[in-house]
Order: sequence, then structure tokens, then C-alpha cells
Amino acid sequence: MSKKLAKRTHTCGELRLENNGEKVTLMGWVDRQRDHGGIIFIDLRDRYGKTQVVFNPDAGDIYKNGKSLRSEFVIAVHGFVEKRPDDMLNESIDTGQIEVVAEELEVLNSAKTPPFEIDDDIDVSEEIRLKYRYIDLRRSMMQYNLILRHRMAQLARRYFDEKKFVEIETPMLMRSTPEGARDYLVPSRVQNGKFYALPQSPQTYKQLLMVSGFDRYFQIVKCFRDEDLRADRQPEFTQIDVEMSFVSEEDIYAMVEGLMDQYMDQILNIKLSTPIQRLSWAEATEKYGTDKPDLRFGMALCELNDLVASCEFKVFTDCVAADGAVKGICVPDAAKYSRKQQDILIDFAKKSGAKGLVPIKIEDNDWQSNLNKFFSIETRQKIIERMGAQPGDLLLIVADERSRCNNVLGSLRLRVAQDEGMIKEDQYAILWVTDFPLLEYDEEEKRYVARHHPFTSPKDEDLHIIDTDPGAVRAKAYDLVLNGTEIAGGSIRIYKKELQQKMFQLLNISEEEANNKFGFLMDAFEYGAPPHGGIAFGFDRMAMLFSGRKSIRDVIAFPKTSSAISLMDKAPSTVSVKQLKELGIKLTI
Ligand code: AMO
Repeated sequence: MSKKLAKRTHTCGELRLENNGEKVTLMGWVDRQRDHGGIIFIDLRDRYGKTQVVFNPDAGDIYKNGKSLRSEFVIAVHGFVEKRPDDMLNESIDTGQIEVVAEELEVLNSAKTPPFEIDDDIDVSEEIRLKYRYIDLRRSMMQYNLILRHRMAQLARRYFDEKKFVEIETPMLMRSTPEGARDYLVPSRVQNGKFYALPQSPQTYKQLLMVSGFDRYFQIVKCFRDEDLRADRQPEFTQIDVEMSFVSEEDIYAMVEGLMDQYMDQILNIKLSTPIQRLSWAEATEKYGTDKPDLRFGMALCELNDLVASCEFKVFTDCVAADGAVKGICVPDAAKYSRKQQDILIDFAKKSGAKGLVPIKIEDNDWQSNLNKFFSIETRQKIIERMGAQPGDLLLIVADERSRCNNVLGSLRLRVAQDEGMIKEDQYAILWVTDFPLLEYDEEEKRYVARHHPFTSPKDEDLHIIDTDPGAVRAKAYDLVLNGTEIAGGSIRIYKKELQQKMFQLLNISEEEANNKFGFLMDAFEYGAPPHGGIAFGFDRMAMLFSGRKSIRDVIAFPKTSSAISLMDKAPSTVSVKQLKELGIKLTI
């Protein structure tokens, strides 16, 4: 019979050869049980590691009880540490030189057979993993991810604390002030018919804290956005949110680079070379077709307008005449692509919005394309030279309206790099993208919308064109991009009421609407608002990249699916008629 054992003396990752002969008590989960010709071996697991426990056949009841143990039973075992025989050493685990010979056993709890093995190489659908998330989180890969995330959070807290930042919590129930995404709403029982919104970010609060004189604020904070989900987006996610007073862009860059330097050093063991390189938004989109370029590989976009303006190929000449762009990328060593492989790329370009894609093979320093006749030999040579093409390369050329041309080539660049295995997974390429446009024209709403948010300051040198050419005004806004993922974004803010009003005018937000939505902030600006600016890191995205995962769900303990459902607790759910009544809500569906 099992008996009650006292406290655990060691974790399952702790015992070494030095402990040989010691009496110990371990507690944990039965990872695996093996019956080796009479001797029962158990791998006992906790979050610190695994220890081999041995039940000898001559140990009477203990042996019998050991034999009846099953995977995931929770047990306490008392025994003595013994050096493993030389032919049974296990170099792959830290405790692999010893084993614990069981003398007493207590089954703390039995367990049903788990729906999947607690193993990193399991072949099981994500749905099942999410449904039984508490079991999924026992796997060492998931434990590693969450512990890494914890270390990252502690590092940020230490860093900002040392730099005199104050961590201040801001409300989770706030006024709905729709910014980019849709708000999650919470109905009020006390104020029937009214709603709180969950914060999309603490943006307005952190600006108010600057008005209050806190000077340096940070917070590791949950944010909520009701938007279409992707591998790097969750409806609730975490930001490291930062705001500083009396600063310029350079001060923010320096503060962020200090943090990234520590992350690279302490989490990834890599030396970050600072200052982090910068590309303006205009350069990034022209050169890489995106505002979040992956710089782990080349294949920059190459403009050909001047070279093709007077060729015989109407698609190109019409495009240049209509102020469009003819650009291309040169894929090394891809002239070997079959007709079918080329068609797949053409199809991909069309799905990404292009009218077409022209693939051109380079053979013996000349083109190999049925379009040859439209281009003089000189033009062909100049294009080959500009694109740095070598025999055996494949040119992919798109002619379209400029932003569409850039977008399509940006997507193609990424796609081809993935297909060709050009992306080194253990490499980290980080850059700032700066000088974003202040505004973006919304074709549906037929008005300008703020590209970052309405509190972002225009660049001083562009203020003179704010009335005549608002679309060309650049913002004091910046993103930090790591391996093609936007990991942080921020801006220097408008802090004067007049400029803020001007911004609302540009956005076609009436004074009444502005007062209604942001009156409190505008009021605050009249009571001595310091110049200020800040940034917010996508903490889940950083944890995903640092742990080498492809989905942020792998670094969130209890994430939602892409349809915003929690498969484990089945949120969202219907609620009782009584609850709805209290809230004054009647469902129409
Ligand atoms: P922004 O909207 O750029 O800026 O958000 C900052 C960072 O948060 C991450 N992020 C997300 N991560 C996971 N799931 C999502 N749905 C999601 N949405 C955004 C991104 C992004 O770079 N208040 C401003 C910051 C500021 O101006 O200081 C803001 O929220 O990594």
C-alpha cells in the first residue's frame, strides 16, 4: 500500500552524481514506464526535467505498485540516489548519470490516458492541443516558450525600472474611441444602454500620464482588437507600452535599442550591432515592396521605367505613360523553373492583385523570352546589368500602378525566398522603418484616415504642405521590424490643441465628434502638456520570434483560434436571459 510521504526534497531536474547515496523525495508526473525484464523504470517529470526512478522486483509491494503506474499519474517517490551503470548513462539529460531507487511510493493522483503524448514531436491537430491546453502546456517546448516569455517580461521590467520608468496600470474598461480596429464592447448594467470598450491600446491614458508629469511610463498590458486574425494576431494580445516626455525620435530609438541589445544578448546570445539600421517608409516600400521588409535575404526590387519607356512592348510603355511602375526582382539560379513553376508564380502575382507577371530567363547573358522581339539588344543588356542578373537567373517583372506593383513584388520576393530556402531561420535582421505617411486615403469612406493614430505628429518640415498636399505629409512615426514582422510601432505626439484640431479637420472628424470622442484629451492639452512620444512592442510577436515559433499562439498560454474561439473553455458563449435583461439587451438573432 502506498503511504503518505513528507515534503519533496528535490525537483526532477536537480540530482547529479554528487548526490550519490542521498535519500531523496521527488514528486511529479509519470512520463513513461518501461518494463525491462523484471525491473520497472519510470521517467518522473516536472518542469525542471526528468529523473529515472527504478523499482526492483525484490522490493515487494513497492514493486507491485510501481508496476501499476500509468502515464501522467502524479506520484511522490522516496528512495536513494544511485550512480547508473556505465552502459546506462544518458548524456542527453542533465540527470542522466543517476537514478533514484524507489523505497516508498505515494500515488498523489491517477490520470486518464491523455489525448496525446507529452512529447515535442507529436503529430496532433492544433484543435486538440487547444482543447486540452493544460496538457499541451506540459510539453517541454511549450514550457520553454512560456518561461522564455516570463524572462523577457522580467528583463523589460528591470530595464525600464533602471531607466526610471514608472509602471502604471490603466483602465481595462474605457470609453469607446474607435481607432484602427473594431472595439470589444462591454455592456454596463448600472448604466443601461451604455457600453465600455476594452482598450485597443492605452494610447490616450499614457499621453494623459505625460500631462500629469510622470515623464517616463511603461506597462506590460493586455490590448483588445476585434480584427481578422492571422498567425501573428490575436484578439487579445500583450504590449510593452512606453511613453516619454521631452523627447525626439532619436531618444526613443536609443531607449528601444538599449532594450533590444539586452534581449539579443540575454535571450538570444547574439551581439546587436547598433545603431539599428533605418529605412524610410518610402525607401522600404520602393526597395522591398513592404513597410516590414525581411532583410535576411536580398532580391531588392529594381525599377526599370527609364529603360523600358521607349521599348516596343505596349504593356510596359502604357504603364510608364500612365505614371505606373515597371519593376522586377532577379531570382538567382531560377532559370531552371519549368513552365508549370512559372505559371504558379504568375498565378500568385495575379492573386496578389497584379494584372500579370513577366518571367524572363537569363541564358548566356541574354534573355530567353518570347518578348525578345519587343526589346533591343541594348535595352536587354541594360536591364540585365541593372538587375545584376547572371546566366541561370530568372527575372520576374511586374508593370502596374506603383503601389500595387510594389505590393505584388514584395509578396513575390518573400514567396520565392521561402520556396528557394533563402531564409536562414537562425539569423535575425532588425531595422527601423521611419517617416511613415501621416495619412492614408480610405477609398471606401472617401476621406483620409490616420495611418498610425490621430495623435501622431506631422514632420515639422512638411507642415507647410499640410493644406495643399496632405497625402504627402510625413509623420514622426516609426516601426521596429524583425525578420519581416512588425514588432513595435510608435510616434512623437501632437501636444498642442491647435495642431490636434487641424489633424481632426484633415481626418474629416467634426469638432463635435472630436470633442465627443477625445474631448478629455483635448482638454488636458490646455493644462500644460509637455512634448512627448512613445512606442509599443508587440510582446507576443517578440516572444514568438525569440523562441523560433511561427505562430503567436505558441507563446500564449491560453490563446484563441483564428475564429476568436477558446476551444478549451468554449468562449464566447451564450448567456442567460436573466443576464441579458439586467443589461437591458435584447438579441435580434
Ligand atoms: P500599434 O497598433 O502599432 O501601436 O501596436 C503596437 C504593436 O503591437 C503589436 N500588435 C499585435 N500583436 C498581436 N496581435 C494583434 N492583434 C496586434 N496588433 C498589434 C504589433 C505592433 O507593432 N498605441 C500605439 C503605440 C504607440 O503609438 O505608442 C499602438 O498600439 O507588434
